[in-house]
Amino acid sequence: MIKYKNLVKSFGTRTVLKGIDLHIKAGEIVFILGTSGTGKSVLLKNTVGLLRPDSGEIWIDGENVSGYSEEQFLSIRKKCGMVFQHPALFDSLTIYENIAYGLRKHFSMAENEIERRVEQALSLVNLDNILSKRPGEISYGMQKRVSLARTVVLQPKVLLFDEPTTGLDPVTTNSINTLIQSLSRKLNTTSMVVSHDMQCALKIADHIVVLDQGQVVDQGTPKQLLESEVPLVRDFLEEARNQ
Ligand SMILES: Nc1ncnc2c1ncn2[C@@H]1O[C@H](COP(=O)(O)OP(=O)(O)OP(=O)(O)O)[C@@H](O)[C@H]1O
Ligand SMILES: [Mg+2]
Repeated sequence: MIKYKNLVKSFGTRTVLKGIDLHIKAGEIVFILGTSGTGKSVLLKNTVGLLRPDSGEIWIDGENVSGYSEEQFLSIRKKCGMVFQHPALFDSLTIYENIAYGLRKHFSMAENEIERRVEQALSLVNLDNILSKRPGEISYGMQKRVSLARTVVLQPKVLLFDEPTTGLDPVTTNSINTLIQSLSRKLNTTSMVVSHDMQCALKIADHIVVLDQGQVVDQGTPKQLLESEVPLVRDFLEEARNQ
């Protein structure tokens, strides 16, 4: 579904992605793990055209999007929904309007269809009775769920999550992770999840990729990663055991 070929991205003299080769298979949940500043968010942003690579290729669902214009990326963003690290909801809009926003922007849709899709998206993230509230009136964990619903409502084939559980307590973290798993299965999406959380990756990923300083240092199934000899992977595993 997604292929990165020798992807390179620099900012000034600093090369952040140093030739990423990666293949994300359709229908899989793939976790991208790495310490802070290794280029995980930069990789996701390149995928949806919020940043452009210096060289290399990105293939999405059979299309080479590397040289795409801003306009051509609009259709890619319909296909690849990104859930950002921070919910960034519109404070002045109701939850209903926040979730309906993308539908109104990307599709011409009758109001009753919008209503149906918004309600369905909210129930997929296990929320109800908050349609007329504003973001400031609900908890941070709920805002994260709304931000998920806002992406899911567009029915993308690919879901990209940038640290969906950072800043959440362990119970909410668990419920968001379970939600990512159930949503991916229910909607039959391909999911890329950027995370620091090896424990969760071992639990719900089909495939785990470990990045270090802009390069893939290891990848495999959870079972394969448990046997890894790569020092950074051992560190992540050790930390997961101590959680
Ligand atoms: N728009 C930008 N302009 C300049 N430098 C950038 C830009 N975006 C990211 N960087 C730099 O690229 C490097 C990788 O950033 P990135 O946000 O991808 O890290 P990350 O792996 O997502 O880290 P974290 O886990 O902390 O979110 C950092 O050194 C960052 O400062
Ligand atoms: Mg990041």
